[in-house]
Amino acid sequence: MASTLVLLLLSFLASVALAPLAFRYSGKVLGLCIRARSTDRRNILLEASQSTEGQTAIHLEKPALRDEDEDGDWEQVGSIELPAVENGKPAGKDWRGVIGFFHPFCNAGGGGERVLWAAIRATRIRYPSAVLVIYTGDHGATKSAILSRVQERFNIDLEPTNLHFLYLSTRHYVLASTWPHFTLLGQSIGSLVLALDAFSLLVPDIFVDTMGYAFAVALSKWLFPDVPTGAYVHYPTISTDMLDSLTPSSTAQDHRGVNAGAGTGAKGLAKRKYWELFAKLYSRMGGEVDAVMTNSSWTQAHIQTLWGSRRKKLRRNNPISVVYPPVAVEELEQEIIVSRDTESNRKPYLLYIAQFRPEKNHELILEAFASFLKESQPPPNPTVPHLLLLGSVRSDADSTRVYNLRLLTHELRLTEHVTFLCDASWPEVLQYLGSSTVGVNGMWNEHFGIGVVEYQAAGLISVVNASGGPKNDIVVDVTGGSTEDGGAGRTGFHASTAAEYQEAFMSAMELPDGEKVKMRLRARRNARRFSEAEFSGKWLDHLAMLVDMRRRKG
Ligand SMILES: *[C@@H]1O[C@H](CO)[C@@H](O)[C@H](O)[C@H]1NC(C)=O
Ligand SMILES: *[C@@H]1O[C@H](CO)[C@@H](O)[C@H](O)[C@H]1NC(C)=O
Repeated sequence: MASTLVLLLLSFLASVALAPLAFRYSGKVLGLCIRARSTDRRNILLEASQSTEGQTAIHLEKPALRDEDEDGDWEQVGSIELPAVENGKPAGKDWRGVIGFFHPFCNAGGGGERVLWAAIRATRIRYPSAVLVIYTGDHGATKSAILSRVQERFNIDLEPTNLHFLYLSTRHYVLASTWPHFTLLGQSIGSLVLALDAFSLLVPDIFVDTMGYAFAVALSKWLFPDVPTGAYVHYPTISTDMLDSLTPSSTAQDHRGVNAGAGTGAKGLAKRKYWELFAKLYSRMGGEVDAVMTNSSWTQAHIQTLWGSRRKKLRRNNPISVVYPPVAVEELEQEIIVSRDTESNRKPYLLYIAQFRPEKNHELILEAFASFLKESQPPPNPTVPHLLLLGSVRSDADSTRVYNLRLLTHELRLTEHVTFLCDASWPEVLQYLGSSTVGVNGMWNEHFGIGVVEYQAAGLISVVNASGGPKNDIVVDVTGGSTEDGGAGRTGFHASTAAEYQEAFMSAMELPDGEKVKMRLRARRNARRFSEAEFSGKWLDHLAMLVDMRRRKG
């Protein structure tokens, strides 16, 4: 068994590298065998999903989970309104295929999982008759345990009907610890083993990777050329910055520290060759994905560089698009009203929501705030501005940091003007979001910044570090828009140094009320780009393309 596996994987890698006809065909033949072997399971799953009892297929899903309340009291999902008709055709209510989601860590509860579950929710609404299968390695977790965690963690209610978990037994192959040397390559080969494990359980009609396993998608294409594939990429497995960082004269900022100049000498040369080879392989694999979504413009640019030419060669002409992860924008819009009338609810508060972690740079914000107060006080100011530092304290290290920040507050003579809000509840957070004027973010090169989107959705005027996602993706100028909607213009301020932050605080706080309201409205309008509805719409556009491909193939 092990040797067959090795042989199979080797021939797969060779086929991608050489791509002669023979290898293409060997893939197809192997695919046919694998498909034949899992047909029974597939039929049982489909039948079970279509029968009203629905849940009899559970016995297929190790560990044997027989939850009595499987179809118990789950709320019908329906919070997102989706168009029922698309190009004049019914929106796929009738489509009965199997969509396989490759997400071996589906119970991890992180940002990547939020995307997975939001995608599944949207898919469920658009394709109610489709069978959704999640390939996961979370053996310890039963279906109902996973679904209730999804509910608690992400507030996403999913009915168990037509949703199945298939448990993979080879997940350790993708752990970095399994591959102390050549980790990138090792993990990628591991993902092939894992994907093979998945396909031997069930071959889906559409295969979607939501964790960044491009090699797994390519394997799917090799074995089952008729199965359309999709990928949602959070982060490129190898980035062009990494390659650049090996050159001493590199301009890459991100990775300079770790690898700067490591490209010189024999060892460096070997490393460079290895990385280049891997990048080439990764590009080949990525080129096989039919629908590519990325979570940010940064990732999009990198994936475009890596996969673009291969995709072009294979005539995959649909663009690699940015589909931002969903943020609870709708809820904030509902809870917090932004208008001229509510402007009187806003206090001169600057709100900084962030965990108490070194990279959040609270010290610099405190210093900037101190000099801002000094500058802005003497003229008779009716209310003195106040800085609110809101964050969760999860460990002793966090408590120590809060203690030190309090000391600094004292030193800067800010005790009366700074409030620490530790572990506030969501209703409290909402209250501060609704009553503050400015939202602050001090982190350098934050990849995204969900918190900043929340500021904008709540109508705060953002002051963020001029770097990363907050600068490039979120606090950007908006165009168009009616006057009642704030019109065109900026949605906040960027700053890099304490002095610039001080200036930005000043500019934001001293805007006339009318201008403040306009900027709030613009920020809110801008935040809609990251809403759940926006995510669902874009996700479904891509999925519709895959369903269409599948239909055309019969
Ligand atoms: C994209 O994913 C990466 C890796 O998980 C993360 O660091 C980044 O913040 C994400 N970007 C967005 C826009 O969520
Ligand atoms: C903002 O980012 C710059 C780098 O662009 C960094 O040097 C600076 O310390 C950051 N400032 C704050 C207040 O976080």
